[in-house]
Amino acid sequence: MSTAPSWESLQGTALVVGQGGIGTALVEALRQRQPQLELLWLGRRSTPRLDLTCDTDLDQLGEVLRGKPPLRLVLNTAGWLHDGQRGPEKRLSRVERAGLEQAFSINAYGAILLARAVESALGHGQSAWFASLSARVGSIGDNRLGGWYGYRAAKAAQNQLLRTLAVEWQRRLPSVCVTLLHPGTTATALSEPFRRGVPPEKLFSAERAAGHLLDVLATQGSDDSGRFLAWDGSTIPW
Ligand SMILES: NC(=O)c1ccc[n+]([C@@H]2O[C@H](COP(=O)([O-])OP(=O)(O)OC[C@H]3O[C@@H](n4cnc5c(N)ncnc54)[C@H](OP(=O)(O)O)[C@@H]3O)[C@@H](O)[C@H]2O)c1
Repeated sequence: MSTAPSWESLQGTALVVGQGGIGTALVEALRQRQPQLELLWLGRRSTPRLDLTCDTDLDQLGEVLRGKPPLRLVLNTAGWLHDGQRGPEKRLSRVERAGLEQAFSINAYGAILLARAVESALGHGQSAWFASLSARVGSIGDNRLGGWYGYRAAKAAQNQLLRTLAVEWQRRLPSVCVTLLHPGTTATALSEPFRRGVPPEKLFSAERAAGHLLDVLATQGSDDSGRFLAWDGSTIPW
């Protein structure tokens, strides 16, 4: 890994998308570690609102960023695994079009459309980071357990979309590092119904997960763009 020299003293705007467990903890960690950054924290309950499935919200984000200091860091923590109506499919008979569309619209399309919305704000020539939360279960090479069709496939699609973005930005925005991050199993609403078998030492608090993710990002420079990394900095197979 190459060291990113300007990480600790990063000046400008940091955008955190998603107001769930890990998003909230990342905002808190950034406030403490990098208070010089101007934080913009957006989600479905913020003003202005940012629902990643809404093109109007994404268009508005471009306007919001035009009035801010240079965008240096984007952390996308929005994700969907279950809600009151649907959850991950354990077997083929549970796979439905609507569930697949829901999983893809947030976990895959959301990340790349966010990148499109912020692209012009990243064209300042200074080093910058665009990181999005993926999941180890999105690894095709690591898929031995099966199940969770929509979520797995949507995270794998996100990985491919952002890897493709990294290739394009290496040419067009070479000072931007694109990174996909797996936070480890973390005690948030997203994992709540599914973590009974997880040993306590393998279940992170959101605060601990946020600390790991910022530590990993701090080691990433633009030459590292396009990687899929776990919370401990190890590379996850695509
Ligand atoms: N927790 C884990 O064990 C774990 C493991 C691997 C990967 N991850 C990934 O880590 C990320 C963060 O998850 P988390 O654990 O913090 O879960 P969380 O607490 O459920 O937070 C997810 C957030 O995503 C937001 N969101 C959903 N749809 C959105 C949309 N259309 N536009 C904007 N925001 C939207 C939710 O908004 P509302 O607050 O409005 O509902 C929620 O705040 C996700 O990508 C998840 O897949 C988590």
